[in-house]
Amino acid sequence: MPLDQVDTPALIVDLDAFEANLETMAAFGKKHGVNLRPHAKTHKCAVVGQKQVAKGAIGLCTQKVSEAEAMVQGGIADVYVSNEVMGPRKLERLAALAREAKLSLCVDHPDQIAQASAAAVKFKSELGCRVEINTGGNRCGVEPGEPAVDLAKRIAKAPGLRFEGLQAYFGRAQHIEDWAERKTQSLEGIDKAKRTQEALAKVGLACTYIGGAGTGTYEWEGSTGVYNELQVGSYLFMDVGYHKVLDAKGKPMSEFRQSLFVYSTVMSRPASNRAVLDAGVKACSVDAGPPRLWGEDDVDYVRGGDEHCSLVYKNPNRVPALGDKVKLVPGHCDPTVNMYDWYVGVRGGRVESLWPIVARGALL
Ligand SMILES: Cc1ncc(COP(=O)(O)O)c(C=O)c1O
Repeated sequence: MPLDQVDTPALIVDLDAFEANLETMAAFGKKHGVNLRPHAKTHKCAVVGQKQVAKGAIGLCTQKVSEAEAMVQGGIADVYVSNEVMGPRKLERLAALAREAKLSLCVDHPDQIAQASAAAVKFKSELGCRVEINTGGNRCGVEPGEPAVDLAKRIAKAPGLRFEGLQAYFGRAQHIEDWAERKTQSLEGIDKAKRTQEALAKVGLACTYIGGAGTGTYEWEGSTGVYNELQVGSYLFMDVGYHKVLDAKGKPMSEFRQSLFVYSTVMSRPASNRAVLDAGVKACSVDAGPPRLWGEDDVDYVRGGDEHCSLVYKNPNRVPALGDKVKLVPGHCDPTVNMYDWYVGVRGGRVESLWPIVARGALL
């Protein structure tokens, strides 16, 4: 059907832009000899994951055990939960899943190692295990060097676990807008990963994988020769947050195109300069800043509650008519995706595909 017949709010994907993004990151990985393990926390969709694997990704990351279940059910054979997993219920689900696919997780405490080992032994499976180091983001992760070596030694001795290497993801660096500052911080994080890798090698523990990176810093983790896996997510879709991140010339990063939109209808025209849309905070995330109208400047987004938002126009002649449909660029792609059951894939103004967001709401 033509796009303008799609009912709203709907989550639409510009397939040409999406495929260009897929291609650009795959080409970067090939050029620098670094594997891609893209993050499914962004798309939560096994169809999209399969497309990434078809372009050469060695597997996927997830942040949650239940997301990993959805990806394995969707045919992904190698899934890394790039997050600490606590408690026997989740770990036993993961250990059970490891009988169907290659599964791994990351740790930053001996108790997680003991619990993961017990779960793997109980289910007679094997879990890959990586040590997360704190590269500077001060979220999870042990300090680089000796604390990481201590955990790696414990993993190597734990039944049912396979020591795989390091997670060195620097979340806080991803959205540093200034390129030089982002580079400086990113290189500091990479150096911490390198020093930890060397300390591990001294005690005979080889890192099969050193992974990390997001869309804001992949160019450094991907080209300095330390990392061999990039766990980038947002590059596929992009959002207002990433359009604020600047390249070396001080321009918004331009290698990835905006492919994800919330499609919305003008449901009321209560003032000459204002259109009210049917996409409130239940249809488009505002956690990282407001969405933006696609293709039009001089328009302010005004939050209108759960089911509405307003677009306030400087030029009243530009205000769309009642019933018109518009595209919003989400402030933040991941939480917006989590609000929908389907991606509506669009090319040349027509709907071409429907992809189920199978891990929507997979929070466990
Ligand atoms: C551990 C981890 N790796 C990778 C990513 C992907 O980052 P991005 O979506 O910025 O590419 C995230 C995003 O939050 C993350 O938490």
